[in-house]
Amino acid sequence: MNGTLTVLGIETSCDETAAAIVTRDGKGPRIVAQRLLSQLDDHAPYGGVVPEIAARSHLSHLDRLVAETLAESGLGWDDLDAVAATAGPGLIGGVIVGVLTAKGIALARDLPFIAVNHLEGHALTARLTVAEDAPVDFPYLLLLVSGGHCQFLIVEGVGQYIRLGTTIDDAVGEAFDKTAKLLGLGYPGGPAVERAAAAGNATRFPLPRPLKGRDGCDFSFAGLKTAVRHAAEALPPGPLKPQDMADLAASFQAAVADVLADRAENAIAMFHAKHAPGSNGQGTHLVVAGGVAANSALRARLTDVAAAHNLTLTAPPPALCTDNAAMIAWAGLERFAAGLTDPLDTAPRPRWPLEELTG
Ligand code: KG4
Ligand code: ZN
Repeated sequence: MNGTLTVLGIETSCDETAAAIVTRDGKGPRIVAQRLLSQLDDHAPYGGVVPEIAARSHLSHLDRLVAETLAESGLGWDDLDAVAATAGPGLIGGVIVGVLTAKGIALARDLPFIAVNHLEGHALTARLTVAEDAPVDFPYLLLLVSGGHCQFLIVEGVGQYIRLGTTIDDAVGEAFDKTAKLLGLGYPGGPAVERAAAAGNATRFPLPRPLKGRDGCDFSFAGLKTAVRHAAEALPPGPLKPQDMADLAASFQAAVADVLADRAENAIAMFHAKHAPGSNGQGTHLVVAGGVAANSALRARLTDVAAAHNLTLTAPPPALCTDNAAMIAWAGLERFAAGLTDPLDTAPRPRWPLEELTG
């Protein structure tokens, strides 16, 4: 691919309204401008995201955020090569807002439209953010850990995904959020649990490590969440003391880290079976992406596992692990560069497994 490519991306699939412009030229990829509006305060009173509130808020703010992003970039509409939006999976009301906005821009400005799978956005972000001297080349092993997903995939290329394992019940981010709610740590749960865990004793509560030691790399978190509840209920009646909260959070986080590390061992073996070390086309990276990848204790643990198998653990910076539009613009850019665009009658999808992209 020669020349500079510049793509506008829009993200509205959950509770962040976001727009970003990314570009790739001879010097590599870069985020030119971005705007992100979190709806945290709108949803906090309900302890979770309310889809109807999310959709209305996206509708109220998206046009302004797109205009601000373009103004900050110093670019004009004519400088864009394509416009991309998350077309699923996600809360469908919000997804529709983003997709229709992007299609409107594409139509008005005669630009190609790209329907981005939100998970592909997470999956490819490490290729946007990592310095040129350590490029994340295909193939790589990906652990995608977010509020709605928990899976290992081999990323063979743009739009080329092989799923190795997934959760059989809750996603790991969901387990963090539910644990936080149970401990009275507020919403969103992941960062709150991580903060509380920093002051806690991870060995005080012996929590289960679901599926640890089993074959494959599937996950299960429902039992762990229930075990946290039972441990909390076994404490003296009354509100949880700060130290109890911290110890429960730390014990929970340690159990998650153990499970992820155990599952990663098996996933790495499966990855190496397909792309043998030392062979032509071997993979060199374990990438962790999605909101839970912002957790530094989990990153540290996975770094050790990866290193033991001569893989480099790479994670986007925390702000690009959680939902954002730069990842959508970047996935759009990678798809555009591969000659992949979508017709304007492409339908938004509430469910859209990543492997379905693989043609
Ligand atoms: O990728 P994301 O922003 O949205 C989805 O696509 O789901 O991920 C959000 C999830 C939430 O469950 C949130 O609690 C979790 O990521 N999360 C974390 C941390 N920051 C966000 N979990 C653990 N530790 C964190 N520091
Ligand atoms: Zn996400």
